[in-house]
Amino acid sequence: MTRPRIALIGAGNIGGVLAEQAAYRELGDVVLFDVVEGLPQGKALDLAEGAPIAGSDMRIEGANRYEDIAGAALVIITAGLARKPGMSRDDLLKTNLEIMKQVACGVRDHAPDATVIVISNPLDAMVYTFKQVSGFPKNRVVGMAGVLDSTRLRSFIAWELGVSVEDVSALVLGGHGDTMVPLVRYCTVAGIPVQRLLSKQRIDALVERTKGAGGEVVALLKTGSAFASPALAALEMAESILRDKKRVLACACLCEGEYGVDGLYVGVPCVLGAGGVERIIEIELNTDEQALFDASVEHVRQLVAGIEL
Ligand code: APR
Repeated sequence: MTRPRIALIGAGNIGGVLAEQAAYRELGDVVLFDVVEGLPQGKALDLAEGAPIAGSDMRIEGANRYEDIAGAALVIITAGLARKPGMSRDDLLKTNLEIMKQVACGVRDHAPDATVIVISNPLDAMVYTFKQVSGFPKNRVVGMAGVLDSTRLRSFIAWELGVSVEDVSALVLGGHGDTMVPLVRYCTVAGIPVQRLLSKQRIDALVERTKGAGGEVVALLKTGSAFASPALAALEMAESILRDKKRVLACACLCEGEYGVDGLYVGVPCVLGAGGVERIIEIELNTDEQALFDASVEHVRQLVAGIEL
């Protein structure tokens, strides 16, 4: 069996964790790409030299030319600036838009058959840009946001209750920013609705923490943003695609009618498999949830309106 080739565009903090975990978990051979010379090669060499201890036979290479991503089945994009304290994800739009346009051309020209996961922020606008510029079909372009936001909420619920993180399931939809919509009604602990286990006041506090979780890390790090949890969230999506697991995960998908959204990427539950985004799952939202979701979509719409392609 040939091993899938995974191209990682951006060899910074998230790219480094992605390379390590993708190779050491043997998801496929890894090519780590960056515009900075030596950076991807250095990280790749270091990881390759540690591979015997990790028990991995995957190849890990660094690259500065798009030619070297040829044959990639999966591409994960983290190219772009990360937040500094006081910045919102939206503040990155101008700079990261130009970077994303370049990346989309490089991937379109050299890995035309790949399924693509975008991580760069502001996520909903960046994944939209990639889709528009590359012209890839919508099932092969997906954004990583909901898995991370849901994972953060899972952690907070598990810590609060003193239970295993494995038993907590959570769902966060909408845009990846302050307007995200944690759906408490769909959060469970081993199948038990979380509302039966925690007071409304405590749940509200955990929801607020989830919305600001990225900013909480930025404020502590001061020089960059979260990188381990975003990388792991993207790898959960990558594994489901490469191994055709058909996981149901909250991802930024191009909605064309689903949830009343037309032509925008927003976070919704979807089935991820060998066909990429194989389908979007539509769930019923109550009036309050729908209002929050609509406000979040409106925010994404305004952000995307500022994009010149
Ligand atoms: N093509 C490829 N790589 C690029 C380009 C480009 N045009 N421009 C910048 N890069 C690279 C940088 O050289 C850097 O190595 O992108 C990398 C980004 O790495 P970090 O600054 O460490 O940022 P990281 O924490 O990995 O986050 C990347 O993901 O979550 C989002 O908000 C975050 O937008 C940010 C992105």
